[in-house]
Amino acid sequence: METDARPYVECGQPEPAVPLLGGDVTEGLVRVGDTVRRPVSDASPRVRRVLDFLQSAGFQGVPRFLGIDEDGRDTLSFVPGDAAGRPWPRRVADESSAISVARLVRAYDDAVQPLGVPDWAYPHDGADPLGCPGSIAGPATFLAHMDITPENVVFRDGTAVALIDFDLLRPATRAEEVANLLLWWGAWMPVTDRDPVMRGVDAASRAAVLVDAYGLGPADRAKVVHVARNAADRSWHLMRHRALTKGGGWKRMWDEGVGDKILRRQAWLAENAAALHAAITSR
Ligand SMILES: Nc1ncnc2c1ncn2[C@@H]1O[C@H](COP(=O)(O)OP(=O)(O)O)[C@@H](O)[C@H]1O
Ligand SMILES: [Mg+2]
Repeated sequence: METDARPYVECGQPEPAVPLLGGDVTEGLVRVGDTVRRPVSDASPRVRRVLDFLQSAGFQGVPRFLGIDEDGRDTLSFVPGDAAGRPWPRRVADESSAISVARLVRAYDDAVQPLGVPDWAYPHDGADPLGCPGSIAGPATFLAHMDITPENVVFRDGTAVALIDFDLLRPATRAEEVANLLLWWGAWMPVTDRDPVMRGVDAASRAAVLVDAYGLGPADRAKVVHVARNAADRSWHLMRHRALTKGGGWKRMWDEGVGDKILRRQAWLAENAAALHAAITSR
């Protein structure tokens, strides 16, 4: 029987490894033929199980986990298409692109929902770092993706077709998942901190469109802005903690000023909270 840690057996001649750039964190990520090789991370055991579950459920919008290669790397299917690099391409700002992402995230969330919140799915980060405010999100209901950046969504023909990069997957609520969607696809941050293509996006009206496309229920709509603000407050502490304990890409992002960017986002959310809340709950 296949297990989540099964070996990947190479077939045919070895193909050259092509570095995959564009992500912030994972060093040594390469494409080999129609596979991706990812160095094992803390998240690997839970990601393998989730991808296996989604494959058995027939969900197409994620890579398949193919096994662990001879070098101990996770081997995933390469998803053909276009994931954003930096600076983001124009299409990231299009309403139609964002709507397709919201629908894909909804489809993923619904597909993974039957797994519930198993014990093995909790990250082993331990307790919150000292000084970190507690989560106000309420009990987790499913295994959310929680990192829906344009770099982590594969598009084909103008439509989002797959989510990749499940390293931040964790038990969470629908409101938390949608708050993460809004951060990246709804431009929930100060205009000056946005990638250039997102500067003209109206965050309130885009938010209304995205929660509609996701089909978020009324109780969750009422929570999203509070959850987004709490997530920003927590994120400053969690990012700093990861930079201190994990180093690598986390430390690089912290040294490049992500902490100050999060503080500016907190202020922007506070200033815009009423308008965002009204836009999301008014329909
Ligand atoms: N399974 C995959 N299919 C297609 N492209 C991928 C896949 N995995 C990674 N990539 C590409 O490599 C980039 C970085 O991979 P990712 O898993 O997001 O790493 P990081 O943790 O560094 O963000 C992605 O933005 C995407 O362009
Ligand atoms: Mg990524």
